[in-house]
Amino acid sequence: MQTQNAKKNIILIGFMGCGKSTLSHYMAKHYALQEIDLDAQIVQTEDMPISEIFAQKGEAYFRTCETQSIIGLANTQNSIISCGGGAVLKPENVSLLRSLGKIVLLTATPATIYNRVKHSTARPILNDNMSEEYIAQLMQKRMQAYTQAADIIVSTDEKSIATIATEILQTAL
Ligand code: S3P
Repeated sequence: MQTQNAKKNIILIGFMGCGKSTLSHYMAKHYALQEIDLDAQIVQTEDMPISEIFAQKGEAYFRTCETQSIIGLANTQNSIISCGGGAVLKPENVSLLRSLGKIVLLTATPATIYNRVKHSTARPILNDNMSEEYIAQLMQKRMQAYTQAADIIVSTDEKSIATIATEILQTAL
């Protein structure tokens, strides 16, 4: 769904390891956008890593923190906002994000994602399920929510960050 981007925010969504954080660092640096990372905000507020939040307080608690962080973005402008891979699974989060700017879905194949995340232990959702098959399954389950939330879909497989950034800027602002 195309919406006007009066607040000039770009919101990056997509599966874990699709490149949201990397792209967000790049775009903040090169295009004078303020960088906002929802996961980093939650880690700061809760004063513990995401894996600890999941372990000690549970996923539902983390999801509530995620919504609270999104609510807190209400006056944000000229920013690149990077969302955790589960942020758009709640329709209320999608409505809030949509009011902030253009939602850009980054995609990558399960093989690409697996190669990017296989050595990480920072993602509790994948920690006991680190395989390309599981990633493909979970991606399939989430894909409808991702595509419905998205204004723009950008594939990241075999593209440079600069190419992806240009593609986004041409369509999102
Ligand atoms: C999650 C993705 C993670 C983080 C949390 C849950 C998910 O963010 O929010 O571990 O459910 O997909 P990244 O997509 O930045 O890895």
